[in-house]
Amino acid sequence: MHYVSISASPRKNMNTAKLLGAAKQTLETLDNTVTHYNLYDLNFNGCKSCFACKKTAKSSYGKCIVKDDLYDLFETIRQSDGLIIGTPIYFQDVSGALRSFLERLLFQNLIYSSPPKSAFEPKMKTALIYTMNIGSQAYEQTLTKDVIKNMERQITRLFGKTSSYKSFETNQLNKYDGIEYTYFNPQERLQTHKTEFPKEMQNVRSFIAAWHRADA
Ligand SMILES: Cc1cc2nc3c(=O)[nH]c(=O)nc-3n(C[C@H](O)[C@H](O)[C@H](O)COP(=O)(O)O)c2cc1C
Repeated sequence: MHYVSISASPRKNMNTAKLLGAAKQTLETLDNTVTHYNLYDLNFNGCKSCFACKKTAKSSYGKCIVKDDLYDLFETIRQSDGLIIGTPIYFQDVSGALRSFLERLLFQNLIYSSPPKSAFEPKMKTALIYTMNIGSQAYEQTLTKDVIKNMERQITRLFGKTSSYKSFETNQLNKYDGIEYTYFNPQERLQTHKTEFPKEMQNVRSFIAAWHRADA
């Protein structure tokens, strides 16, 4: 199988990147290939609403025609067996880069028929890994929960089955010296990270191995 992994975190060696790295390594150990991208290395904007992907008589039907760095990536995704996306939660939503990416990925595949249907065939499995500051209990009371639920709904209707992994109470910095961080407890953060993050890495390995075994 060939998978595409996409990081929507600007940091290349922190929580999201590490968990995605564990996912990639697990899939490779299981004899798959994984092509990895970081959205912050790519030049692109969100959907321009040009509707070229909705013109039935054109070869661009169901495809985004904008020739930026996402053009080839979308083709790579179409040729792949599955897509894994990792994102930090920013202001209770996914990162801005991921929102722009998803506008493009999703809209080209949304056919405005009655009822609406997906241009993406055959279906493809997707996995999302979310990392965030809040704990699992607080999460239940936040808008983030609804945002993730909406994300799952939008992705499911266009691509099919999707799975989510949430990593809570991530460590925001490796060093907190000189940083105003009294809202949280930096020492507690570092200590929790030391004991809990290895378990998170292991959990993601199990999560992605199960995802790989499941049908699209
Ligand atoms: C701009 C910004 C906004 C954030 N907003 C939230 C938030 O609303 N909820 C939350 O739980 N964490 C929030 N965080 C924390 C990050 O989601 C968390 O530290 C994440 O694990 C960072 O991922 P990274 O280590 O891959 O960069 C925010 C961080 C930044 C930089």
